[in-house]
Amino acid sequence: MKLQISHYLRVLCFVFFTLSSYSFVLHGDNNNITSNLSLRNRVRDKSSALIVNVISFGARANNQKDQTKAFVAAWDKACKSSSRSVLFIIPRGEFYVGPLRFSGPCTNVTNLTVQVEGHLKASTDLSKYRSGSGWIEFGWINGLTLTGGGTFDGQGALAWPYNNCASDHNCKLLPTSLKFVGMNRTVVRRISSVNSKFFHIALVECRDFKGTRLNITAPSYSPNTDGIHIERSSNVYFSRSRIATGDDCVSIGQGNSQITITSIKCGPGHGISVGSLGRYPNEKDVKGLVVRDCKMSGTTNGIRIKTWADSPGLSAATNMTFQNIIMSNVTNPIIIDQSYCPFSSCTSNVPSKVKLSEIYFKNIRGTSSSKVAVQLHCSRGRPCQKVYLENVHLEQSENRGNEAVSSSCRNVRANYIGTQIPPPCH
Ligand SMILES: *[C@@H]1O[C@H](CO)[C@@H](O)[C@H](O)[C@H]1NC(C)=O
Ligand SMILES: *[C@@H]1O[C@H](CO)[C@@H](O)[C@H](O)[C@H]1NC(C)=O
Ligand SMILES: *[C@@H]1O[C@H](CO)[C@@H](O)[C@H](O)[C@H]1NC(C)=O
Ligand SMILES: *[C@@H]1O[C@H](CO)[C@@H](O)[C@H](O)[C@H]1NC(C)=O
Ligand SMILES: *[C@@H]1O[C@H](CO)[C@@H](O)[C@H](O)[C@H]1NC(C)=O
Ligand SMILES: *[C@@H]1O[C@H](CO)[C@@H](O)[C@H](O)[C@H]1NC(C)=O
Ligand SMILES: *[C@@H]1O[C@H](CO)[C@@H](O)[C@H](O)[C@H]1NC(C)=O
Ligand SMILES: *[C@@H]1O[C@H](CO)[C@@H](O)[C@H](O)[C@H]1NC(C)=O
Repeated sequence: MKLQISHYLRVLCFVFFTLSSYSFVLHGDNNNITSNLSLRNRVRDKSSALIVNVISFGARANNQKDQTKAFVAAWDKACKSSSRSVLFIIPRGEFYVGPLRFSGPCTNVTNLTVQVEGHLKASTDLSKYRSGSGWIEFGWINGLTLTGGGTFDGQGALAWPYNNCASDHNCKLLPTSLKFVGMNRTVVRRISSVNSKFFHIALVECRDFKGTRLNITAPSYSPNTDGIHIERSSNVYFSRSRIATGDDCVSIGQGNSQITITSIKCGPGHGISVGSLGRYPNEKDVKGLVVRDCKMSGTTNGIRIKTWADSPGLSAATNMTFQNIIMSNVTNPIIIDQSYCPFSSCTSNVPSKVKLSEIYFKNIRGTSSSKVAVQLHCSRGRPCQKVYLENVHLEQSENRGNEAVSSSCRNVRANYIGTQIPPPCH
């Protein structure tokens, strides 16, 4: 009897919960039976989460019109919810949106899952975007999970011709596809980003960020389409991703600490880069970087550290480890360049004031498509310190015949351990 009552209570409880979450969901006006049913199934799976589906707020899939308004209304509902756990759904289908700002703080929500199953397409009207902003920006949220297997399509091909940043240092910056600002405890898992107008993914002032199983693609000729750019962030971990772009696969800017990049397949692109550092005054240091178990194929650089000549302030980059990296036909597999100076407005004669130290290259092997496989060109003003190369084995790519690879060093006395091909600098 006792058993029966508790069973009865459990059923009642379940029904109540299901219905109560259910009524949360259907405030939108565009519901039909299919979407009601599929929503109900989801509610049953996660009975304590508030479910917000953009369709319920008027978004229409596979419709050429801009759906931004519906997405914003849905976000408002999700973020202002009093539920602790919210599931925000962008279902299958194509949606034209943007720019979009998903801003917090979402005061009472501790767990906000954005499930993107569909294919989001960015507006191609450049007048809609502010310089340096994002197409889709997530800001000031705690506990965001972005997942679902969907695709963010920046539709960059129409915008790339307007990128004149290589020649004009005051250029208007095109939008980054996915920008994360001031976020804590973020997980980004199983999403694709294709043809961003500018960077694919950028982190600014984020803490505890984990990105995994990302698929990032843009053609090798697309300008500034960095895969992942990280700035002023700490405790960041990216793993198990494929990145093919026209610029850096991963770039690590100023003010970062405790950054781990692992199991990345990179190429085409410009490789994995620390920098460029020292362009602006008051830049913060970079420390505690680990890049390991990565494969670079056909990239212009493998591991690069680059700092501006004539940098306006003092800063440092220290404690950086690059380990178990396979280079396949990479132009500059290992390169430190402290006289970066792409515009005629700067002068490369003035040495960089960025101090580089405690740099470990361990188990770096594969092929170089240029003669100089290891280039360590440090600043005359602040020479590099504690640079270690351990088991470096880089041979020339097939296309270079039998020419031997070499090393080139300036303002550095590296420490060599184990195998060294090319032979060390004297
Ligand atoms: C979906 O559910 C809502 C709320 O229960 C209801 O108002 C609406 O009529 C339903 N739509 C269809 C097509 O059944
Ligand atoms: C109902 O909603 C589902 C899921 O959102 C959608 O695939 C379907 O086309 C809709 N049907 C109608 C008649 O609007
Ligand atoms: C958040 O929770 C607090 C305390 O329970 C409550 O007073 C407040 O109204 C909630 N805010 C929202 C937006 O639900
Ligand atoms: C967060 O919510 C998602 C679904 O919305 C759920 O799968 C997950 O278990 C929740 N995590 C925590 C820590 O509550
Ligand atoms: C993130 O954490 C930091 C440090 O605990 C805190 O200062 C900041 O306000 C948090 N951000 C948000 C959006 O809550
Ligand atoms: C990655 O994205 C590209 C371009 O959209 C696509 O062709 C490829 O199938 C995707 N790969 C995976 C594993 O999702
Ligand atoms: C160097 O960085 C690693 C990885 O981030 C960290 O575990 C270690 O404590 C750092 N070492 C020093 C001396 O700060
Ligand atoms: C290696 O890279 C060079 C220059 O980047 C290119 O010309 C050549 O075709 C590549 N070789 C292979 C085998 O991919």
